[in-house]
This record gives sequence, structure tokens and C-alpha cells, in this order.
Amino acid sequence: MPTLFSEYLLKGLPVKNRIVFPPVVCFHYAGEDGAVTDRNVEHYHQIAAGGAGIIVTEATAVWKDGRLAPFQLGIWSDEHIAGMIRIASAVKAEGAISLLQIHHAGLLTNEQVSAYAKAPSADANNPRSSMLTVNEIAEIIEAFIKAAERAQEAGYQGVEMHGAHGYLLNQFASSLFNKREDEYGGSLEKNMKFATDIILGIRARCGSDFVIGYRLGANSPSLEDGISIAKLLQRAGVDILHVSHGGSLQNLPRTPKGFDYNWIVYSGAMIKTHVGIPVIVVNDIKTPDRALWLIENNHADFVAIGKPQLADPEWANHVKNSEEINLCLSCKPTCKWYEDSRLCPARRRRDA
Ligand SMILES: Cc1cc2nc3c(=O)[nH]c(=O)nc-3n(C[C@H](O)[C@H](O)[C@H](O)COP(=O)(O)O)c2cc1C
Repeated sequence: MPTLFSEYLLKGLPVKNRIVFPPVVCFHYAGEDGAVTDRNVEHYHQIAAGGAGIIVTEATAVWKDGRLAPFQLGIWSDEHIAGMIRIASAVKAEGAISLLQIHHAGLLTNEQVSAYAKAPSADANNPRSSMLTVNEIAEIIEAFIKAAERAQEAGYQGVEMHGAHGYLLNQFASSLFNKREDEYGGSLEKNMKFATDIILGIRARCGSDFVIGYRLGANSPSLEDGISIAKLLQRAGVDILHVSHGGSLQNLPRTPKGFDYNWIVYSGAMIKTHVGIPVIVVNDIKTPDRALWLIENNHADFVAIGKPQLADPEWANHVKNSEEINLCLSCKPTCKWYEDSRLCPARRRRDA
């Protein structure tokens, strides 16, 4: 029976354990125009030294005018490669696998970044939104592929496409947002053509060994769609799925009795039963016991532990050595890292 510290071979790459540090934008860490700063490098080095097997660098913009915030990290230019080399090397030096999350916000593009929010379809509730033309779609597909090539050049072992949380890839995938009637919309297969073109392009240009991950919005718009999307992604050549939410609170599946986790983790476990590629589950897993149960019972291949590793970057090593963990205090209404990591009370307690 696997444990949290069983090795996993991901496309021949040995992953030392089943613990993932999921992508977490560090608000206000990045420099101008998405440049990596010393603070970014130190953060990832600290988390990697803390023992997680896979570290996914935060949502990084493939398109300057598609950022979720002005301070988001960027990979839209060759000039970003030098900074990304620093993060990838810091993570690899600690023996973790390093993936870069590549991202375009689409409808959720920040107004300080662009006057427009380009999306599969215009949104009646968003006056800045407009429908992407087929030529613009081709440009953004190329931007995702170039971003993956740059990540590879920087030393990342792979990328994770950000297809969750209501951002551009999720908007294409979900019939809630995608109202197109051309080759990029109208059926699930057509809704997924945008993602599929990117996946095929990355595979052709980065080679068969490069890991292509995809963070999937499970309710896009329903879990049944999420399952179908996962199967299409596997067929297109995705190597690992990371199941999160689809940015809306509609059509949430009910978790069955005896499965003591939220619907997002449940969705990941359900999707795992329908695909033959590894699945990362995430969201509010919190404790080592709860993480272990998911792995032992084959509900997941990996568990992503976000806020607990922000509160205690040595979370994985502490679990391994049966040492005390500096617990996340589950701040309400939301995690302080969305504003400024220096306000995180658990981190302040640890670093005092
Ligand atoms: C401050 C902050 C920033 C986040 N940034 C990202 C991101 O860049 N990309 C992403 O896919 N999810 C992002 N997330 C979501 C996390 O990856 C994770 O799914 C979420 O925190 C739930 O897991 P947890 O309960 O283990 O923290 C972010 C979460 C937080 C708290």
C-alpha cells in the first residue's frame, strides 16, 4: 500500500513523495513586467527544502495583456527565462520536480493590465469583454506553446496549464462561458480544441519527455463534464491532472457518506476512477492523516497541500520525521497571502 512517502515514477522521472506544493501566486513579490525577484527565488527554495516532491510555480502569464494582476510573474518574453532559471534551479537543487503553471486570465484579466478582457465569448456582465477572433486564438495558443518552450529552456521538467478557477482555458472548456459556434465551441470536443491545440503544440515542440500537466475545473459546468474533459485531456497527451474547481458554485456534486472531504477532493477522486494518468487532489486536505488516507485508499496519486505549506514550508519534512507542524490558522474571510504574506499569523508565529 503506498504511503505519503512512496516514490512515484512520473514519465520515468522519480518523484520522491506524493506531496505537491500547488501553484500559489505570491502577491506583490514579482518585479516589474513579471520579472522574478530574489523574494520569489527564496520562497520557492524554502518550500522545496521543506520536502515536497513536486513544486508547481504559481500562475505565470503567457500574455502581457491577459494577466490577473499587474504584479503577476510573466513568461511571455524570452527576457523572463533568466529569472525562471533561478526558480527552477533552486527547486531542483532540493530534489523536487519543478513545473511551471502557465496562465491567461481571459474574462478575468485585470483592468489595470488591459482595457479589454478577451474571452471565448463576450460576457454581458463584463463591459470590457470581447470575443476572441480565430486569429487572436491562434496567437494565444502560440503564446502558451512558447511559454512551455521557455519553461523547458529555464530547466523546468514540465508545465501545468491553468485550466481551472474560471480563467481562459476554463472559459473555453465550460459551456457556461463558451457560446461560440465555430471550431472552438459548440460541443465538448470543440470547447476543448483550444486546450488540445496547445497540448499538441507543446508535445511537438518540447518532446515526449516533457511533462504536460493540466489543472482542471471539475465542475465545468458539471462533474460529468469534468470527467469527459479529463478523458479528452488524457487522449490529447496530458501526463498528470490536478483537479480543482471551475470558478463557479453551480452543479456541485454531493460527497457520499464516509468520504470526509469537500466536493473538490471528491471530484478529483471520481475523475481518477475514469482516467489512466496520475491525479493530484487538492483543497482543504490540511492534515497528514487526511492526506495519507487519500493515497492509501487509491483516491489520488498525489495530494496538494497549499496553505498548510505556506504556514509551514517544512510541512513535508516534519511529517516524514514525525515532528510538530506549524499549523495554518485558516484565516477568515480569506487567506492573508492574497494580500501580503507578511500578514500570515501562522508564519509570523513561526518566524518570530
Ligand atoms: C494566496 C493564494 C494564491 C493562489 N494562487 C493560485 C494560482 O496561482 N494558481 C492556482 O491554480 N491556484 C492558486 N491558488 C489555489 C491553491 O493552489 C489551492 O488550490 C487552494 O489554496 C486550496 O488548497 P489548500 O486548501 O491546500 O490551500 C491560490 C491560493 C491562495 C491561498
